[in-house]
Amino acid sequence: MKAQRVTIHTLRQMKERGEKIAVLTAYDATFGRLLDEAGADVLLVGDSLGMVIQGQETTLPVTIDEMAYHCRAVRRGVKRAHVVGDMPFMSYQASLEQGLTNAGRLMKDGGCQSVKLEGGAVHAELVSRLVSAGIPVMGHIGLTPQSYHQFGGFKVQGREQGGRERLIDDAKALADAGAYAVVLEAIPADIAREITETIAVPTIGIGAGTGCDGQVLVSYDMLGMDESFKPRFVRRYANLESTIKEAVGKYVSDVRSAAFPSDAESFALADNKSASVAMYSTSAKSSS
Ligand code: KIV
Repeated sequence: MKAQRVTIHTLRQMKERGEKIAVLTAYDATFGRLLDEAGADVLLVGDSLGMVIQGQETTLPVTIDEMAYHCRAVRRGVKRAHVVGDMPFMSYQASLEQGLTNAGRLMKDGGCQSVKLEGGAVHAELVSRLVSAGIPVMGHIGLTPQSYHQFGGFKVQGREQGGRERLIDDAKALADAGAYAVVLEAIPADIAREITETIAVPTIGIGAGTGCDGQVLVSYDMLGMDESFKPRFVRRYANLESTIKEAVGKYVSDVRSAAFPSDAESFALADNKSASVAMYSTSAKSSS
């Protein structure tokens, strides 16, 4: 049976029914397929790929071309989940026109079903213009990594005098402008709960406690791809760093001892010459 695609309306209904929304980041078709088939509701092609995939120290260097490339790849692997493309640093801050053009690129070239951008009330007008143009927008407030230098590092937000009010106002401004969901990153749990109770659209928390309508984690973090990295808000559901290293260590030793490949893993002259062979796996799916 064909899986019913998750839409922004599904997410709103989930909030109304009190069903939690499971969001993860994805950066390629294979992870897109795996996370989708495992039941994630939303896959965010996050600009965290600058750090996770590209090995940069912040998300700032990521370009709109790189985002469109990764969005296209993820979309090929996904049948059910809603795919969101992240607007990278300086792809929307310069002007409304720049934001509209670049969000359009993620929808047209990247095949995303919505875009995410960082910042609150300051971007309300852009959010409203995007929504009017038919582009659904997920907001993102609190610790917004594109403001790394402004914040002086990755720091929990909202604890300062007036922080609670500012975050609530930002969330309201985004929801009023038409955002279909708002990410709350690294803010005190009681502020996140208050925002969740105040706005009608779903809140998606990361380091924001259990009072949010959904949760998002960077998939590589929750899968334990880097066992030296364990921030407080991440729960590790696997230890893939060890799993991968063990598997690769075994492969290296099999190659060195000539235990790999076996005859069954090799071709023989007597094989049917016209038979085509599978060479590489692909997670490409025909998707709507
Ligand atoms: O870029 C990203 O992956 C994100 C999430 C962590 C919310 O913005």
